[in-house]
Amino acid sequence: MSDKSINQLTAIKLEALSDLGNLDSIDQLENWRVKYLGRKGNLTNILRGISTLPVDDRKIVGTEANKLRSSLEEEYEEALSTIKSGQYDQVDSIDITLPGRKPKIGRLHPSTNMIREIVHAFNEMGFQTVEGSEIELEKYNFDMLNIPADHPARDQWDTIWLDSDSHDDLLLRTHTSPMQARVMEKNDPPVRVIVPGKCYRYEATDATHEWHFNQIEGLAVDENITFADLKGTLYEFVKKIFGPSRKVRFRCDFFPFVEPGVDMSIDWNGRWIEILGAGMVHPKVLDAVGYDTEKYTGFAFGMGPERISMLQNEITDIRNFYSNDLRFLSQF
Ligand code: DAH
Repeated sequence: MSDKSINQLTAIKLEALSDLGNLDSIDQLENWRVKYLGRKGNLTNILRGISTLPVDDRKIVGTEANKLRSSLEEEYEEALSTIKSGQYDQVDSIDITLPGRKPKIGRLHPSTNMIREIVHAFNEMGFQTVEGSEIELEKYNFDMLNIPADHPARDQWDTIWLDSDSHDDLLLRTHTSPMQARVMEKNDPPVRVIVPGKCYRYEATDATHEWHFNQIEGLAVDENITFADLKGTLYEFVKKIFGPSRKVRFRCDFFPFVEPGVDMSIDWNGRWIEILGAGMVHPKVLDAVGYDTEKYTGFAFGMGPERISMLQNEITDIRNFYSNDLRFLSQF
């Protein structure tokens, strides 16, 4: 009894393989699939009929029929991919009537956009853009800014120190303020500069702290510069970035390189949010670069463009700026 079924299976196999050899289109292959593997196909009939066979034969025929089924399924998959790739090869001309696809165009990073906007606002007020090195000497990052070694104020700037055979005073700048000293050292007053750049801190990250970030430093030194100039300049800056009616608040704050020192906040939906530190340049800083402290005064300020962008664009986590996720980056 089982012999008959096995012979049938062999016949199906031979016929199926021979048919398959003559196929060259997806439609023909689909007919083949229906004929040999479909619900009404010969093979399915045999599988359905197994329960009517004597018990001993069921196992033999069942095993063979299932083997054939999976081998035909494999043949089908193979033939399908051969036909598909063959069709692909047959494309021997380009359809020039197809509409073109737009290539993806890159864009500036949101930090870069914000930096440019802020720097531009100060350029318009007569500040010249200057950039400095991210690797800095302790002298400029701290000493010349009135932050001597062992002064507790250094703790405010958790520092990444660099290993070097020739220097034990190299670090990744913790702020852009060292450029105050470098610019004044090289130039006589009047000085009016805006300094964007990358800074680094040995700090744990969270939604509002990154271990690397951008800062923008500003410095103006001349005869007769007063705190009113500081306020006027920063008011103007806020107007340019946040609109003409934004409320601003100054509070006393401490930074070793300014006296008096302030922080400036803007009104943010009824809350005060701090956006920068500022103050009148400390006479010790002017003295360190050889400026006549009787003749010259100045103001300085420093801000984080990522923080400003967070306010402007309602971004809640500063780490987004550096996590390289295009879904974030392409929004701003
Ligand atoms: N360098 C300061 C910081 O990183 C920011 C700052 C505050 C810069 C006051 C200034 C300033 O120029 O006057 O926290």
